[in-house]
Amino acid sequence: MHIDILTLFPEMFPGYLNESILKRAQEMGQLSIGLHNIRDYAEGKHRVTDEPPYGGGGGMVLKPEPVFAAVEEIVAREQGSKGAREKHPFTLATEGRPPLHPIILLSPQGRPFTQQVAQELAQAERLVLLCGRYEGVDERVRQYLVTNEISIGDYVLTGGELAAMVVVDAVTRLLPGVLGAEDAANEDSYATGLLEGPHYTKPAEFRGWAVPEVLRSGHAANIARWRREQALRRTWQRRPDLLLTAVLTEADKQFLAQLAEEEVRRS
Ligand code: ADE
Repeated sequence: MHIDILTLFPEMFPGYLNESILKRAQEMGQLSIGLHNIRDYAEGKHRVTDEPPYGGGGGMVLKPEPVFAAVEEIVAREQGSKGAREKHPFTLATEGRPPLHPIILLSPQGRPFTQQVAQELAQAERLVLLCGRYEGVDERVRQYLVTNEISIGDYVLTGGELAAMVVVDAVTRLLPGVLGAEDAANEDSYATGLLEGPHYTKPAEFRGWAVPEVLRSGHAANIARWRREQALRRTWQRRPDLLLTAVLTEADKQFLAQLAEEEVRRS
């Protein structure tokens, strides 16, 4: 996957992108990143990228011209490169056809980012991530350039850069072969529809606190059942809303009924 990131602060990215699993994904050739400074696409001696809003009010608004220019040039560059048109048939929303590769604006007004959205994005060959700044982005960017708008949560950051890193991280670990163990991402919280249960490692006893006996029993079926029940218990306690959409077996439902009974008895 190739991800182009458009930002006024490209220096914010390399530290995070060049460590750990994201670094490995790039070394493996599963991920490549293009960092682009929006200011480089602004006109004039001062390369102005923001102006006060029409109609008054506080703050500054990111101007449309440098953002359109940046996206259009990056897309054209890709399409112009040898063989790229067949490999990456990148189409802009402004051409009236649905784009084959998402152009995503990170903003608090976007669609909430979830594991499911990460899985959808992981199917794309290319993504363009546009980091908003200041009070906002000229509405024409939203209307005529971007294809998706994503929020990473109900809080306001100073810009879309951290959100873009969150998206890159969550998507990259879903790309084929990026995580060591083949199914490591399948057992994640949210991938199964449940929160993960507890994990333990050595030592078997630490400050008098012992690892649950079942995990040391070597009995695979008992361990699997215990883990499932722990995941159900944790989800029940912390995120009961997830149980409405999780895929549950009859045994799971019985266990949840038991939890409900315990709670009634306690109250
Ligand atoms: N930019 C500012 N706040 C944001 C958020 N919550 N998600 C995505 N981009 C943002």
